[in-house]
Amino acid sequence: MGSFYRLLLLALFCLSLYPNVSSEGKCSSTASYHSADEDVLEQSSLSFEAMMDKNGEWQTMVTNNLDPSISTNNSNIDVKRTVVERDGKKVLVVTMSLKGNLNERSLPPLKFHSEGAKNVEVFNGGKSAKRIRGTTNKGYGGVLTSRSIRDNELFQVKVDKLLRRYITSIGIGISRKSPHNVDYNEWMTCGTIMLYNNQLYENGSAIKKLKVPNLRFLKVGDQVGVMKKSNGNLHFFVNGQDHGVALSNITYRVHGVLDLYGNAVEASLA
Ligand SMILES: *[C@@H]1O[C@H](CO)[C@@H](O)[C@H](O)[C@H]1NC(C)=O
Ligand SMILES: *[C@@H]1O[C@H](CO)[C@@H](O)[C@H](O)[C@H]1NC(C)=O
Ligand SMILES: *[C@@H]1O[C@H](CO)[C@@H](O)[C@H](O)[C@H]1NC(C)=O
Repeated sequence: MGSFYRLLLLALFCLSLYPNVSSEGKCSSTASYHSADEDVLEQSSLSFEAMMDKNGEWQTMVTNNLDPSISTNNSNIDVKRTVVERDGKKVLVVTMSLKGNLNERSLPPLKFHSEGAKNVEVFNGGKSAKRIRGTTNKGYGGVLTSRSIRDNELFQVKVDKLLRRYITSIGIGISRKSPHNVDYNEWMTCGTIMLYNNQLYENGSAIKKLKVPNLRFLKVGDQVGVMKKSNGNLHFFVNGQDHGVALSNITYRVHGVLDLYGNAVEASLA
């Protein structure tokens, strides 16, 4: 009994620490950023499934999701292998996605990546995300965009569902990580710039208050966005209004990040 409560307390303590996680020692070498310099386009992929039937024969199926309108410079193929269970059988899924620097003319639409942190589910064809595993569980609600955001491209979400329980708002921002190298247990601590309430965080530490409406008071239907300009300045938008330069010198490629934190439990791209 006693140890059960100790565990419970420990769990509550851990939850209350988030998102003010320490930024010490969590960033591995900058080498892990390299793949963030290219986009992996899961929207444009060939996928190959192999399953052994009861006679010991391999059954294979190829799905062609290659989008001919998308092209990349210096293109390459990203290969991902996963094993899934289907009807009690193990299925090997090999996905070959186009990879490279996107030509501006053939940008696929901005979406959330299909795999966010453990308490997030992406749905509506990548346009919406919601918090799962109990709305009382306010952490682990981060999800990156499926491709990097371009200079002067607005990454904006609309609040779809809110609780009235916490004092911390939805989070929105940018990260140097990409869905292919992000670790959602420590994504805050490494090359991530986020706005919660009216407080800007870098690598999980509060760095300054911004002159923006406090996101804690957003209502369902309100919108919040972020944009990296071509001059490296970072701007936040609330209900379409640009609130000026929040930070400068963002000269690297970034992905958009939504954190369904605190009261925010569901949002869509707007
Ligand atoms: C891709 O190639 C075109 C034509 O060579 C060039 O104008 C463009 O800047 C390149 N885009 C990127 C993202 O490298
Ligand atoms: C945040 O992390 C990135 C990546 O390690 C680093 O380049 C940057 O200087 C850090 N910023 C702060 C304020 O610690
Ligand atoms: C941005 O970077 C430039 C060149 O490295 C530097 O001179 C300038 O002080 C930086 N600005 C800010 C606001 O950090």
